[in-house]
Amino acid sequence: MNLWKRRPTAISTIISASILAADPLNIGRDVNRILEAGADWLHLDIMDGHYVPNITFGPALVKALCKETTAVLDVHLMISNPDNYINAFARAGADYITVHPQTCPHLHRTLMAIREAGCKTGISLNPATSPMALDYVWELTDLVLLMSVNPGFGGQEFIPGILDKVREVAGQRDVHNPSTLLAVDGGVNAENSGELVAAGVDVLVAGSALFKAADPREIIQRMKGQ
Ligand code: DX5
Ligand code: ZN
Repeated sequence: MNLWKRRPTAISTIISASILAADPLNIGRDVNRILEAGADWLHLDIMDGHYVPNITFGPALVKALCKETTAVLDVHLMISNPDNYINAFARAGADYITVHPQTCPHLHRTLMAIREAGCKTGISLNPATSPMALDYVWELTDLVLLMSVNPGFGGQEFIPGILDKVREVAGQRDVHNPSTLLAVDGGVNAENSGELVAAGVDVLVAGSALFKAADPREIIQRMKGQ
C-alpha cells in the first residue's frame, strides 16, 4: 500500500496567530486586525511561571475571545499539571488543547481526557525533546506542535536544526496517522515558512511576524505561498 496516497494533497497552510505578540491593552483590536488580514486560527500561549519562566493568561481570556470570534482556538498549555485545567479550557471554548509530555506523567490518559472534554489533542515537543515521545499515542494525537524555540517567550530566533526534525516527524506522521496536523511554533516568519511547508508543516504558528507587521495581509499571503 502506498501510504502517502492516504494523505490529502490539497490542504492549504493554516496560519495560527499567537496573541502573545498582541498589545495587551488592545488584544481585541489586534486580533480583529490579524483575522481580517487572513489568519485562520488563534494560538493562545498559557504559561504558569513554573514549567516555563514566564506568566501569561488563563481561561478567562480564552472565553472572552471565544465570544468574539469563530476562529479555531488553539490553546498551547505550557503549565505544570495540565490535567487540572483541561476542563476549564474546554469550557472556555478551546478547540485544540496541546500539552508538553514532560508535564504529563500519564500522557495517554491526558490525551483521552482532552478528547472526553470535547477538544482536539495536541502534543508539543521542545527543541531537545525526541519524537520518540509520540510513539504509541499517534492515534490519539490530532496535532503535533514542534517548538522551534525554547518555550516561554515570543520574539525569539528560529532554531534552524528543527527543519530536520520537521522532516522526520512528517515522515512518521504519514505512516502512523496521516490525519495528524503538523505545526511549528517559534520564530516563524515569511522567510522560513516556505521551507517549513515544503518539509511537511500544515500549521504555521506566528506571533511577532504577524502582530508587529505593517502589512500582516501581505505576510500571511507569503506564508501561505500565495
Ligand atoms: C513560545 C510560544 C510561541 C510564541 C511564538 O513559548 O509558544 O507561540 O508566542 O512567538 P514568535 O512568533 O514571536 O516567536
Ligand atoms: Zn505557542
